[in-house]
Amino acid sequence: MNVLVTGGAGFIGSAVVRRLRAQGHHVRILDALLPAAHPAGPPEHWPASGSRSARPAEPPAVRAGPPYAGDVEFRVGDVRDVQAVEDALDGIDVVCHQAAMVGLGVDLDDAPDYVGCNDLGTAVLLSAMARRGLKRLVLAGSMVVYGEGRYECGLHGDVAPGPRTKADLDSGMFEPPCPACGAPLRPGLVGEDAPLDPRNVYAASKVAQEHLASAWARASGGRVIALRYHNVYGPGMPKDTPYAGVASLFRSALARGEAPRVFEDGGQRRDFVHVDDVADANTTAVAAVAEAPEGAVRAYNVGSGEPHTVGEMASALAAAHGGPAPLVTGEYRLGDVRHITADSSRLRDELGWRPGVPFAEGMRAFAREPLRGG
Ligand SMILES: NC(=O)c1ccc[n+]([C@@H]2O[C@H](COP(=O)([O-])OP(=O)(O)OC[C@H]3O[C@@H](n4cnc5c(N)ncnc54)[C@H](O)[C@@H]3O)[C@@H](O)[C@H]2O)c1
Repeated sequence: MNVLVTGGAGFIGSAVVRRLRAQGHHVRILDALLPAAHPAGPPEHWPASGSRSARPAEPPAVRAGPPYAGDVEFRVGDVRDVQAVEDALDGIDVVCHQAAMVGLGVDLDDAPDYVGCNDLGTAVLLSAMARRGLKRLVLAGSMVVYGEGRYECGLHGDVAPGPRTKADLDSGMFEPPCPACGAPLRPGLVGEDAPLDPRNVYAASKVAQEHLASAWARASGGRVIALRYHNVYGPGMPKDTPYAGVASLFRSALARGEAPRVFEDGGQRRDFVHVDDVADANTTAVAAVAEAPEGAVRAYNVGSGEPHTVGEMASALAAAHGGPAPLVTGEYRLGDVRHITADSSRLRDELGWRPGVPFAEGMRAFAREPLRGG
């Protein structure tokens, strides 16, 4: 198939492109090479003509004509740019939409860029797909859409705690209490039908992407697989920036000879999933989306199924790197949630995907693997 991978110069997009190529698909990349994501310039494998501008280069940096077997066509272009998107869709069968501004960001000044890249960009892409009658979309979603996720209270059963207050966090009360009785809660695995409850601007923009895709599918008869990735790590992860994931922050600290600084008390539970497994989920979805329900979004969690705390992840990395032990700082970020771990059984059961990289093995390798811009 001819597959357009937006954001294909990014951490996950690059891995998806590699996997798609290995399966013999023709791949075209559309990526704006956003300076926030690529502070050190274009990735090594990009053609020398690649530009760092957030706007498309004129004429677009294209390595060769239409996609051809076994190779990749690189385009520097922005998904907010109607013409760049129209051109990039030429001859395409399936769109794998990875482009997005990621992470918690610096402050609310980032909000227009999150919404612009993630939501305006998705709207531009979807309207161009509708004009061309293109009906297959694989969307990079995120576990951030769930907010705090699922908890169980001994007395009240399944509950959804509200956002943690600044006062509680300041006093070191990191666990969200039961909203009904204030009792301690047990975190559970979150399934795809859990209510969406974004807790920061990035999360809100990822929810909006799914809603836009749903509206598009209904109106156009399109088919969408939304892959809600959990915490992705692995080689090529961007170095520490305000937009980087926690595994990269720890890995970057260790590379500087410093201890990883673990926020809160280190007990936050996450599902760390290897980028190769996420790339496999994407190639699986690219193949399956033709059979996905017409006119709807089918969402799938993409997690390893092996929840770990952030503290455990820091310790595993520090040990594998041979660096200083993690430092638990008690700091926090208001937009962070306490625990969020995936139930990825739908992806296993319906599409036959299986994660292949166990936590211990993946972290051991990641402790030494290169970071992007590092
Ligand atoms: N990394 C994770 O742990 C994680 C978790 C959940 C979901 N995701 C999602 O996965 C996708 C890929 O994330 P990543 O971690 O590879 O991030 P990344 O920053 O490494 O890659 C994103 C790429 O998108 C490009 N991009 C951003 N805005 C663009 C625009 N307007 N036009 C064209 N290109 C643009 C960037 O230049 C970058 O190359 C995103 O949709 C993100 O929301 C990532």
